Amino acid sequence: MSVLVTGGAGFIGSHTAVELLEAGREIVILDNFSNSKPEAIEAIKKITGKDFKFYEIDYTNKKELEKIFEENKIDSVMNFAGYKAVGESVAKPIEYYTNNVSGALVLLDTMRKYGVKKFIFSSSATVYGDPEVVPITENCKIGGTTNPYGTSKLFIEQILQDLYKSDNTWDIAILRYFNPVGAHSTGLIGEEPQGIPNNLMPYISRVAAGILKELSVFGNDYNTPDGTGIRDYIHVVDLAKGHIKALEKLEKESKGLYIYNLGTGTGYSVLDMVKAFEKATGQNVPYKITERRPGDIATCYADPTKAKNELNWTAELGIEEMCRDSWNFIQAKSKGEM
Ligand code: UD1
Repeated sequence: MSVLVTGGAGFIGSHTAVELLEAGREIVILDNFSNSKPEAIEAIKKITGKDFKFYEIDYTNKKELEKIFEENKIDSVMNFAGYKAVGESVAKPIEYYTNNVSGALVLLDTMRKYGVKKFIFSSSATVYGDPEVVPITENCKIGGTTNPYGTSKLFIEQILQDLYKSDNTWDIAILRYFNPVGAHSTGLIGEEPQGIPNNLMPYISRVAAGILKELSVFGNDYNTPDGTGIRDYIHVVDLAKGHIKALEKLEKESKGLYIYNLGTGTGYSVLDMVKAFEKATGQNVPYKITERRPGDIATCYADPTKAKNELNWTAELGIEEMCRDSWNFIQAKSKGEM
């Protein structure tokens, strides 16, 4: 019995693939390398010393997807094959809705055809919009997303709710990620955004490495202790482990649709992150304060109690490991490219 990992060469998919293999699971990965590289597949094998089947396909292609279900005994699916760049989603809504929403529909329809009904979905704290309260619990209101990326997550959550209502023999876990950062401690897999990164941690690590000149801190007039935005950064390896726990829950419990926040419960400001990065790596991170970035909110962090109580999962790695591993990865990568 195998777990199908769509988008398994990507940032979160590759780390989850490693954790699945290390937990003794059989996996099948599919990826079309639209935002990842074949080297990630080799790296997963190298880290774990284990082999698995890989398909280079686009998951929106039903015919090719069906081939995977024909050729393997798939028991559950983790879907990491989404597009995730917020700014790009504003410029390319059709591409985002097609890949994220239609892709999820093709996948769910194929799963139904083959009687595979365990599904773990990568959602995002972005579904809470500008949160009513912090820390955010799973019961907080969702909606008010400000970009097609976020709205695609919201739509898929709704689709999953409707699907479960129509047929309660499905087992579904919706995992709402806070801000995933860091990399595998081997430095072999990590986040590789195309072009200039939009997210904070990849930007900071590139400034520290001298690839980018300085960080722009988007606003220091928010209603937060130092005026800069506060987020719940979570190490990608902790996040990956959350998926294993969610899968165990789906296998153990009677049928259900479960929603969990995956965050640490601690918020750090942009300047906290700069300082922590400097401390963990010994590198200088020059920055300047600029205008607020449109669509940004002041504060967002999780109440992770539900995941702790029901999944027996808590994030174990702190800000130091997040910074250290991001730095390791960027260094390993730049050495490899020279
Ligand atoms: C964004 C998305 C979220 C997505 C996540 C990871 C929104 C509202 N949120 O989160 O859906 O899951 O990316 O892809 O669109 N910052 C700077 N300078 C920079 C970059 C960021 O000051 O160069 C600040 C931001 O203003 C923010 C914090 O750093 O306060 C984190 O930003 P970022 O890493 O982009 O993540 P989010 O915006 O929280």
